[in-house]
Amino acid sequence: MRCLSTVLALRRYLSLARLSSLPSKAAPEAPKLPRIGFVPTMGCLHAGHLRLIERARSENDYLIVSIFVNPTQFSPQEDLDRYPRDLAADQALCEAAGVDLLFLPNARELYGDGGEQPGLSPHFTQVIPPQSFLTGLCAETRLTHFQGVATIVVKLLSLIQPDRAYFGQKDAQQLAIIRRVVQDLNLGVEIIPCPIVREASGLALSSRNRYLSAEEQRQATVLSRALFTAQEAFYRGKTDRQTLLATAQQILETEPSLKFEYLDLVDPDTLAPLEKVEIKGMLAVAAQVGSARLIDNVLLNARQPIIAIDGPAGAGKSTVTQRVAKSLDLLYLDTGAMYRAVTWFVLNSKVPLTDELTIADLVAQCQIRFEFPKGEAFTPTRVWINDREVTEAIRSPEVTAHVSNIAAQSAVRECLVREQQRYGHKGGLVAEGRDTGTTVFPDAELKIFLTASPGERARRRQQDLQNLGQPCRSLEELEAEIRRRDCLDSSRAISPLIQAADAFYLETDRLTIDGVTEKIVRLYHQRINR
Ligand code: PAJ
Repeated sequence: MRCLSTVLALRRYLSLARLSSLPSKAAPEAPKLPRIGFVPTMGCLHAGHLRLIERARSENDYLIVSIFVNPTQFSPQEDLDRYPRDLAADQALCEAAGVDLLFLPNARELYGDGGEQPGLSPHFTQVIPPQSFLTGLCAETRLTHFQGVATIVVKLLSLIQPDRAYFGQKDAQQLAIIRRVVQDLNLGVEIIPCPIVREASGLALSSRNRYLSAEEQRQATVLSRALFTAQEAFYRGKTDRQTLLATAQQILETEPSLKFEYLDLVDPDTLAPLEKVEIKGMLAVAAQVGSARLIDNVLLNARQPIIAIDGPAGAGKSTVTQRVAKSLDLLYLDTGAMYRAVTWFVLNSKVPLTDELTIADLVAQCQIRFEFPKGEAFTPTRVWINDREVTEAIRSPEVTAHVSNIAAQSAVRECLVREQQRYGHKGGLVAEGRDTGTTVFPDAELKIFLTASPGERARRRQQDLQNLGQPCRSLEELEAEIRRRDCLDSSRAISPLIQAADAFYLETDRLTIDGVTEKIVRLYHQRINR
């Protein structure tokens, strides 16, 4: 791991990384267009930060972490001086987590003379998020905090220009603001939200928990207990503001030693206060516990559940996914049919299959409509393109021969991921793929990583060939082919195979298809009927 502290050295590192001339832990033979993942932090790393780092490690070729206790997001009355710092421990944790570069900028270089002082200087350019994001929740008391956060994050993103940057749901207002700023300023970085990591007691991990005595730690658990109780009420059908806030408030009042700052129900994207949760909402709370100011939140999601099944080729994903859909009366989001439909359209348009730009334009303009199978009487997915039914046509050998090439084009993939997410808006579906649980539906209620050993997959493939009356191939040959395919699937630039950190790992070597389906259905019931 490299540690760099100047902008000049960072620039040099990045130009070398982009030329792929630097070895990385994830890609010793660097690919052509390395993906750079970035996790900004203020250090004093704990398991919450590490979850972001692990995820970024698994999804990118280069991983950059920054540690910078940013003075501009602290007011002069806040804890800039005593904010916990432990660089030696942080370095060791980053090294162990496979970080490629630890960026440790200093305030003077970033902000000029006086940059170490808390607060935003009027002599420095500031990023000011939309006013509606600066009027509620933490912004009520931390008046210029989010200008300071937006300014440093935009500075770091423009310096590093990562493909993806990772932020915790723990700081929900920060996350919503950064998403909006990145969108408004066209920064072209994918912002990846990561769930809150908690102690077994429910207390959300925070660097400021170090300020708490054992007794205060116990008292602080009232925050998550209040939020979880309101969340339970929500899942029992209470969706109005008054009931949800009153339910949480009742629990909060059992701990009078805490000084509560706010409790609110808002839209998690716009932060606008909600009178009722239609599809999604967020309950957020802040309180002073001893000398620490703590925040916490829970998401309330009224959409139907989603199951995301990922795994390597030949693990039985599509059969299992269809059976799970049948068994739970969910929609089977047949992503394969979506890629086939686009492939049929491209082939029909006579555009050269390598002309990615024209294909991108075509795909963005065409109207595709799907009717996915649901329930007991399973029919194939029906597809219309520009009002013409192509259900049969997309199954032609010509489409089969070209579908994986077309699906590997980034514009096609981006367009179809957006389409899949649109179908997922109301939930109630099961989908399979390689990154369904990480990229397409990162907030799926149940994520499964379905796999089997290469030896077992080779045996199953051999059996399939026999059943189809096709020429027999040796187990060794099939296993070698499967291993090569796994390697390719995990390292491909577009939608590589990734196991979500919160996915159940299901190895199916000793299980039948019915056994696997039953297991997933059981997991689903355990999850959903909390
Ligand atoms: P910091 O508080 O160090 O947090 C760095 C990242 O870790 C943030 O995205 C935060 O939301 C995430 N994080 C912290 N605790 C978490 C938990 N318990 N579970 C999941 N994620 C958690 O947030 C900042 O630093 C700064 O404002 C920064 C963005 C670096 C700008 O200075």
